Amino acid sequence: MAEFLEVKNDVQLSEQYELLIKQLKSLLSKDERLITNLANLTAALKQTFDKISWVGFYLYDGEVLYLGPFQGKIACTTIKIGKGVCGTAAEKRETIIVPDVNKFPGHIFCDPDSKSEIVIPMFKNNKLIGVLDVDSDVFNSFDETDKKYLEEIVRFLTEEIII
Ligand code: SME
Repeated sequence: MAEFLEVKNDVQLSEQYELLIKQLKSLLSKDERLITNLANLTAALKQTFDKISWVGFYLYDGEVLYLGPFQGKIACTTIKIGKGVCGTAAEKRETIIVPDVNKFPGHIFCDPDSKSEIVIPMFKNNKLIGVLDVDSDVFNSFDETDKKYLEEIVRFLTEEIII
């Protein structure tokens, strides 16, 4: 596809996600390498939403989560399963929304600007392969709409792109 991403700021959140997902279906490809798809996906999310201050993947090597493609400031390189928001989402195998990072026990402060966060765990054939971590420099940035669509994006990635 042409390297152009259409973004609309004056529409509802769900419409923004639907426009993004439509474009991800041609931007991401199972014929591309994993790192290429993950890199472009983080860029597409960052370009679409002004509220995102940091977005990236932590990938699972069977032992720890390690930093993968991301957009934003430099970040922690490894996270143990069960630690921080990322490690907790990976351990519980469920999406975690954190409206205020100061109130999440054990939150890992990689980026001092981060105020709220959502982490979506990723599975392939039921096995953990990593997490998608999305941060905002504003409190309460993520809700059930973000959860629904980010989970849909992760599902598309893990079921149709990562082979
Ligand atoms: N805050 C995360 C760590 C990753 S950074 O936000 C990029 C956590 O608590 O797992």
